[in-house]
Amino acid sequence: MIRPDDFREAMQRFAGPVTAITTMEDGVPRGLMATAVTSLSAEPPSLVVCINKSASAHDAILRQGFLGVSVLPDTLMAFASHFARAKGADRFEGALWCFQETGAPLLAGASVAFDCRIADTHDGYSHTIVVAVIHDILLPNDNADRCLLWHRKGFVKVSPQETEVAATSSL
Ligand SMILES: Cc1cc2nc3c(=O)[nH]c(=O)nc-3n(C[C@H](O)[C@H](O)[C@H](O)COP(=O)(O)O)c2cc1C
Repeated sequence: MIRPDDFREAMQRFAGPVTAITTMEDGVPRGLMATAVTSLSAEPPSLVVCINKSASAHDAILRQGFLGVSVLPDTLMAFASHFARAKGADRFEGALWCFQETGAPLLAGASVAFDCRIADTHDGYSHTIVVAVIHDILLPNDNADRCLLWHRKGFVKVSPQETEVAATSSL
């Protein structure tokens, strides 16, 4: 029997990307921070995002059928803390947001940002598993090498200058 505390401890050792999942409803931005985001398929270009059913933005994201996924660089660690702590539309204060095809807010300083439409949803116990098809990708030159992870209840800055980067070309 796996106890919930053991599961939580295990997940704390599971470093994940820091992303802002966003939508816009009736002119008001809605969103949440998420690490449960992963690549799904290149054709069609798609991601999976797992959103807690209790999250205040959950229903709005599903209703709207579109979402932005902005991957935060280490340079935005202070904003990441704000985005995680603030509530409602206040989360979006203190950063620049831009809009592409769907109307989802995308973080201007992101390492990469995805403009997506929801193609499918699946029940994932406490979460909804969202299959998001990518309609546009923002690939800014700034922050391309910068990375922020969530690990053991804290943000970890990762940058090529400060981190030993393992050789990955043979993987
Ligand atoms: C680093 C971090 C990662 C998180 N990852 C997820 C996630 O992947 N999915 C999710 O539904 N909530 C995740 N959460 C929780 C949400 O960001 C949010 O705090 C929670 O849904 C409550 O939001 P609300 O106050 O808008 O309801 C994460 C929180 C933090 C701080």
